[in-house]
Amino acid sequence: MTENSNLWTKKHTIQNNLEIWDEQYTWPQDGDEWSGQANRCNQPYEKWKQSIVDSFIRPNILETSAVLEIAPGHGRWSAEIIGRSRQATLVDLSPACIEFCRQRFSSFDNVSYLANDGKSLAGVADDSVDFIWSFDAFIHMNADVINSYFSEVRRVLKDDGIAFIHHAGRNNTFLPFSFLRSLGRPGRKLYKLMTMGKLKDDDGWRSDISREKIVKLAGKNGMAVQDQIRSWGANGEYSFEKYGDYISIIRKTIDISAN
Ligand SMILES: C[S@@+](CC[C@H](N)C(=O)[O-])C[C@H]1O[C@@H](n2cnc3c(N)ncnc32)[C@H](O)[C@@H]1O
Repeated sequence: MTENSNLWTKKHTIQNNLEIWDEQYTWPQDGDEWSGQANRCNQPYEKWKQSIVDSFIRPNILETSAVLEIAPGHGRWSAEIIGRSRQATLVDLSPACIEFCRQRFSSFDNVSYLANDGKSLAGVADDSVDFIWSFDAFIHMNADVINSYFSEVRRVLKDDGIAFIHHAGRNNTFLPFSFLRSLGRPGRKLYKLMTMGKLKDDDGWRSDISREKIVKLAGKNGMAVQDQIRSWGANGEYSFEKYGDYISIIRKTIDISAN
């Protein structure tokens, strides 16, 4: 996250997210500039990106699917979603991002665009979505915002629907020490060491979220986490090692008899 590097000490509020992504961030390659995680796995960025499409997006979209993408930004993953689904809805806090997507995908007639309040899915009907995708966005959201979205995810998902949510994976034990962030650079470094196990490098503006917290928030909203993925590929060659993130796979119910 070297681009606009002075932005990344702000709190993870909806307002700050809005100001950053709507006004301050310059989107030099429309999201494809975020190649750090691929570099960390020693993989070319395009290959790493394609592995995400092949492993997580394509298998979950049928030509009959209604798909919701939360926080598409400039549409890095949306092209794949729109091209494969019956109906796609793109929801983002940033009106500028939604406008960018509207222009970028203007040749498609199966897309709805919503600029939202950063915590609800108003305008998306109950029990209407087969697959929800969100990448590089919940990593910047506070627990209260995620809680609000999870209540909405439960509302809009069909009973057999599925959500893939990419989020931060800090060490749960040390989350109560997030106050260290307010103590300047040394405090932020110490907190990063405690919750990410590293001193060097930035923290990718990750919010104070662990995999355990995601399970708890899903449960609180009547959903279950089926799996939490940090590495993938035939030999685990792709991963979120750089910042320790996860993709959580979330359902309204999990059929335990299938295991
Ligand atoms: C780092 S960009 C990622 C964009 C895109 N998902 C990608 O992977 O290229 C973060 C995106 O999340 C959006 N965002 C941040 N907080 C949000 C919120 N509370 N609700 C909806 N969108 C949000 C921003 O407007 C921005 O488009």
